[in-house]
Amino acid sequence: MTRSSPTALLRNGLRVLVPLSVALTIYLYLYPIFNGCAFPLPPDQDSIPAASASTRRAAFFETAKVHWHLAAGTAGNATVFAPARPIAPFRLLALGDPQLEGDTSIPTDYLGTLPHLQSLVKHATFQSDHPSLRQRIRQILHDFVDLCLEDTFHLIESLRKRLDLIGNDFYLAHIYRTVHWWTRPTHVTVLGDLLGSQWLDDAEFYRRAGRYWGRVFRAAERVLDDVAAYPAQEYDVTGYVGGGPFNESTAWSRRIINVAGNHDIGYAGDITEQRAERFEKAFGKVNYELRFELLRDDPSLTESLYNDEKNPDPNSDRLIPELRIIVLNSMNLDTPAASSDLQDDTYTFINTVINTAAAVEFKGQFNLILTHIPLYKPEGVCVDDPFFDFYDYDGTLKEQNQLSADASKGFLEGILGMSGDVNAAGRGRGRRGIILNGHDHEGCDTWHYVNQTVTDPDSKPKWEVKRWRQATAAGIVGREGVPGVREITVRSMMGDFGGNAGLLSVWFDRASWEWKAEYATCPLGRQHFWWVVHILDLVVVAGVLLSAIFAVLSAVGLDVDSAIGRLIPSLFPRQKGTGKDMVQTGTKEGVATKKVDSG
Ligand SMILES: *[C@@H]1O[C@H](CO)[C@@H](O)[C@H](O)[C@H]1NC(C)=O
Repeated sequence: MTRSSPTALLRNGLRVLVPLSVALTIYLYLYPIFNGCAFPLPPDQDSIPAASASTRRAAFFETAKVHWHLAAGTAGNATVFAPARPIAPFRLLALGDPQLEGDTSIPTDYLGTLPHLQSLVKHATFQSDHPSLRQRIRQILHDFVDLCLEDTFHLIESLRKRLDLIGNDFYLAHIYRTVHWWTRPTHVTVLGDLLGSQWLDDAEFYRRAGRYWGRVFRAAERVLDDVAAYPAQEYDVTGYVGGGPFNESTAWSRRIINVAGNHDIGYAGDITEQRAERFEKAFGKVNYELRFELLRDDPSLTESLYNDEKNPDPNSDRLIPELRIIVLNSMNLDTPAASSDLQDDTYTFINTVINTAAAVEFKGQFNLILTHIPLYKPEGVCVDDPFFDFYDYDGTLKEQNQLSADASKGFLEGILGMSGDVNAAGRGRGRRGIILNGHDHEGCDTWHYVNQTVTDPDSKPKWEVKRWRQATAAGIVGREGVPGVREITVRSMMGDFGGNAGLLSVWFDRASWEWKAEYATCPLGRQHFWWVVHILDLVVVAGVLLSAIFAVLSAVGLDVDSAIGRLIPSLFPRQKGTGKDMVQTGTKEGVATKKVDSG
């Protein structure tokens, strides 16, 4: 019987573990495929919404087809590869709140390594002053107790935390790399709280920035300052989108549009010039705009445009299709702020954004607003309810869950130019756009709207908000006389929130001469799964190596099984021999007893 032989045990174990680890590893490394992740496709018929199950399936197959043709080398061949349905020309991979932790969560980093051992040695080697030997011994014993019952635990906890931080970096990196590879975004954004704390000293700040660029978002780069433009009346477009699935700008798909969050630069009461400056140095500007024009590769896209370079049509309300990305530092929109200069920067930026926007009567531009703090919503709409806290010592803003209602109005009525007054310019419908943010780790998808139909002459139309799903089900979205905008609070990519990634598609609808957007998510699952798979892989690799070593030893004539049995007898007792002895003894005694009985 080879039941208990160590080599057989290892072989049998590997027989189970190898397929398991291979299956789990394949799943982990290809999870966007198994989850059917894809950027939403523009609908081929208006009757089928982009979020429906059949459209989601079609989106997945279009993405798979792209990969197939890339692998087969036929991607550039228009006769072999023509997508059955056009893919959105602008595809934004949106990631929320990675919040890289660091030394602030490692006890030995802020307490020192084994501090009581150092103290103990000092007292024991007479390097300290004591009135008597008794006091010295007392101190030594104190230190000894603290060393055993405190320092060692801090040390173990610190080692665990350090490993945890490295694993977390790789977990986040895995999300970015895998989703980026499979879904093929044209642009990427991280919506604030790139780091875990605004209280870091410069050394730790740059260490974490180094991990952000060197480990989590390897091969990615920041948006350079000369590209991150300040809004102006006369501007150069940043780039173009569209022109088929392979015409994606590779430069922009590698850049990360970083948004400043409270853990990066602080809330209004914390932001200082120094905190804002080091953020801009490591991650890019806090306020800027990017403008992407749709590649007009089709004659129907160049007809009767108001602002056409060659053939302007002064009677047209159609503009050159353009996406305007507004990156906005919302950390000091609300008051009171510690630095009024920095707050003025934000206000001036918003005013310039409004002053350089196209008049609301025109069609064809789309405002994609990227910021950190979500807009105001009454209690119960999202997970985070309205919350404000102020510092005792100077009354400045210490913490907020959402923007104030007034600041939110600045987005809705200012940047987007919507109005509750149907007689306002452009009938109050405002500019098309979408707002993306983070902060609330749970995520939320909402529709802000104002009802222009007022029956009660004493009440003014006011801003309301509903969950996106409820608003669409109630038919409020797109209803005449109810202008509105979608706000998506992207769920965090942290393990505790399922390693989420947001996929925003924006495409141009020629019939209505408007851009349209749809959103999907691609979660990986909690970080434990990532750990389990990698630990299992390590165990399997070790097992395979061990079994190879055993095979070599057996081949050179060594009896591996009995060698291991001798080495660790308690694990593999030599049952054969002992068993036989017991049987023999039993028989002898039985016979002896019988003899006594018969005598
Ligand atoms: C807008 O207000 C009118 C009049 O009060 C009401 O009949 C209508 O249902 C409201 N629409 C929405 C979407 O709330």
